[in-house]
This record gives sequence, structure tokens and C-alpha cells, in this order.
Amino acid sequence: MFQLSHDYPQTDPGVCPNAVCTWLANPNVSFSGEPGIKQAEWNSDWAEYMGQLLAYIREGQDLQLDNKVGWKVNVGNTPRWFHMPWMAYDPKSGREFVHGLTNERTAEISDFLGEPSTAPRGQKKLSRTDMIKLEALGQKTLPLTPKMTREFMGQNPLPLTATTQTSKGFETWAFGVYNPWGAYAIGQTWNPDGTPRINANPNTGIGPQPAGLPFPSGTLVAKLLFTTATPAEVPYLEGSPVWQADRHVETEKGFLCQRQVQEVRLVQLDVAVVDSRSPTRWVYGTFAYNGKLKGETVWDRLVPVGVQWGNDPWSSPATSKADSQPIVQSVLNKSIGTPQHFGCNNRLAGPVDNKLSSCIACHANAYTPPSGVAQSKTNLPIIFGFAGQCTTQAPENADYFINNQFPMPYSNAQYPNLMNMDTSLQLMVAFLQFGQFNQAGAPLACSNPE
Ligand code: HEC
Repeated sequence: MFQLSHDYPQTDPGVCPNAVCTWLANPNVSFSGEPGIKQAEWNSDWAEYMGQLLAYIREGQDLQLDNKVGWKVNVGNTPRWFHMPWMAYDPKSGREFVHGLTNERTAEISDFLGEPSTAPRGQKKLSRTDMIKLEALGQKTLPLTPKMTREFMGQNPLPLTATTQTSKGFETWAFGVYNPWGAYAIGQTWNPDGTPRINANPNTGIGPQPAGLPFPSGTLVAKLLFTTATPAEVPYLEGSPVWQADRHVETEKGFLCQRQVQEVRLVQLDVAVVDSRSPTRWVYGTFAYNGKLKGETVWDRLVPVGVQWGNDPWSSPATSKADSQPIVQSVLNKSIGTPQHFGCNNRLAGPVDNKLSSCIACHANAYTPPSGVAQSKTNLPIIFGFAGQCTTQAPENADYFINNQFPMPYSNAQYPNLMNMDTSLQLMVAFLQFGQFNQAGAPLACSNPE
């Protein structure tokens, strides 16, 4: 049964030593803040940076991430991982009791399998020699050949329009964990009784902000995402750890409020770190699970998909197509071995993320109304999809694909007095749930689909 890890460090952990935060000392990566240069190509330096993050995350964890073991919050005898409070309050998507997973975006079959008939956007045709080389390394090459398409889609390929999972899609359930540097900021923001600590910031001219922010250098947040899809539907989920989750019961009408312990499988591992070399201070990266790889442990079957450190606010759709500069703040691994899935215009997004978004677009919009105020229909910008998202030069796109640095106020004056969450959407959820509790004394009721 899940237990919240909330003994947040109460003293400043100081500078993270290079031997611990190895990625911060990696001299071979650089994070551009300038438009007009060439987009970095995926290479062994990026793979190494992602490998350093993964080594820190997996340290001391079960090699197969067994359901019974779950996530260990201690590494050795030292507390390594901490959770965000207030994320169990919402009865619909709030934490379930087995592993503390919360309900996230529902994915479609095409999110997993791509569109096999067309080469993914930005995909260069590989030479025959490159293909042989990559295959020798155990990596499948893209674009998909008919044989690979069969392999990804199983012996009985699912037609992409009529899928077996009905119109409801596949639920995603996930949990996030903060290392001691991130947890120090959380502990400075939430009192032990669950009330927030707010810094009035009288000297900056910017309104009140959570007292523990910004997250200090050394912060690493990992998030593991599980799907209800099975290897029969998505063959590269083969061998993925099967976890129990108290998730929604499904009927023809959709997902009910009622929950039941059912199986979910690991599909994606997200990570975010504060690295002061990044112009936004943040670096986001993601791994995709690929059961077709030979690796013996689950950790060896996680393939880095890319790294992002900004939203390229000088590129479409934040600008017009005519003014758009090439993307320079994402680097994408274009031969990951599973169908590709990037975000808006070659920015980074993960396998079960919205293709019209990007990691940092969604996260740069982590703002809340003043502390103690619940979410209303009008007091927050929309982050989960709006008309014209990524496709038109709508003003919403210019607001959305921003580079945010704490404590920057929200760019659109339509939403005054928002608090900046320093990209943490979990902190945003926590403040919104606290606001709901504070104003209504009860969570929003869950209602079943009509
Ligand atoms: C469309 C919105 C959206 C996109 C795109 C998105 N996320 Fe998130 N992410 C969320 C939400 C909402 C949460 C908080 C809810 C939760 O964790 O249960 C979250 C939480 C996280 C967390 C936990 C810490 C935090 O900031 O709250 C990490 C780490 C993370 N995401 C990384 C990523 C990475 C890496 C990508 C891209 C590969 C990504 N996210 C793309 C919406 C998004």
C-alpha cells in the first residue's frame, strides 16, 4: 500500500556534489539560448547525459521494478525520493492506494503505433549501411518497413482507425518522485499540517509566490508512466513491469468513477532537472520502454527519446511560419526502435504525451491562482489542448510555447496575480487541490459518463 514520503529535508542540502549529480558535471552537452544555430543532432554525448540521469534514478531500485517491491523511497539507508502532497484529494484522478499513481492523459492506439504508412516528421531516410549498423547495435531503424510494421503491430495488425480498445483509449497512470534537492523546496512550501507557506516577495514587485521556490540546482524529478495497453495491442510493451493500480472501471460508455485494482504496464519514464546551464534553468528528458530490446533488466530496455531545455519561442507556432526560426532547444533521438512520437514541430514530447504540445510548453504554463483559491473556468490558462494548438498562429500558441523562468509573471494580462510554480505541474495540482479544500471543504465530485 502506498505511503506518502513526506519527511522533506529541513536543512538546505547545499550544492549537489559532482559525484552525485554527475550530469551537472558533464562537460560535453550545451544548451542553447539563441535562435539561428543548427538543431543539435542526437549523439553519444546526449545519450551519456540521459544515461547519467537514469543511473541516478535506478540506483537501488528493483531490477525488474516488480509490482510487489514497487518504488523504494530509500536508497541504501538514506531517503532519496519524496512525493508531492495534496495529490490524493481528487476522487477522480487523485492517487490510488496501491502505488500512489494518479490518472493522466488517456492515450490513443496511434500514440503507441504511429502512422506506419508515412515517414515520421523530420525523419531522414537512412542509408542501407546505417540501417545495418544500427540493427547490429540492437536498434530498430525507422522509417518503418512493412516487416517492422508487422512486428510493432503484432501478428494481427490493428487497423489504426478501428481499434480494439474502443473509443475510450488507454488510461495512463503515473507517479512522480523528487530527490532531496527538489524535496527541500517542497518542504519549504508546505507546512507539516498541509497548509502552504507563501513568500510575499515585497521587494521584487512580483506578487506572492510559494516560499520554497525556485527549485535549487541539483533538483531531479522522475516520473514513471504506466498504460492500460497490453503487449497484445502494443507489442513493444512485452516484458514491461506489470503493476497493480486501483483505476477506473471501463464500460462501453467510458471510464466510470468506480475503481478496481487492475493491471497497468510501464511505458515511459520522464525526468526533469534544474541545470543552471539551461536558459530556462530546466532540462527535460524522456525514455520510452522497448521490450524488443535485449537488455536484461527493465532499466536496460528504456531508450532515451530526447532532451529539451526550452520551447523555441522564436519558432512556429509561437511565431508565424514566415518568421519561424529552426528549432534549437530540443534534441531528438530519431532511431529509438519504436514508432516515433515527438511534440509540436520537432519539439520534444513523450510516447503518451499530446503530439501538439511539448514537455516544456505544458510545464512552462504551471501557474496557479493565489494560494487558497480553487480553479475556476476562467482563472487559469488552458494547458491541455485548445483550438489551433500547434497548428495555427493563434495568440494562445504564443502564450503556450514560452520560455519561463521563475518568478516570471504569466505573459497574458488576462490572468493577473497568478503564482509561478517553477514548471512543477504537480505543485500546481497541489495548490489547486488545497484551494478546493480551502474554499469548498470537499473535492469536486466525480461524475460518470452519460
Ligand atoms: C500536455 C501537458 C504535459 C506535457 C506535454 C508533459 N507533461 Fe509532464 N506533467 C503534466 C502534468 C499535468 C503533471 C502533473 C501531474 C502528475 O504528475 O500526476 C506532469 C508532471 C511531470 C513531472 C513531475 C514533476 C512536475 O513537474 O510536476 C515530470 C518530471 C514531467 N511531468 C516530465 C515531463 C516530460 C519529460 C515531458 C515530455 C516528454 C512532459 N512532462 C510532458 C503534463 C504534461
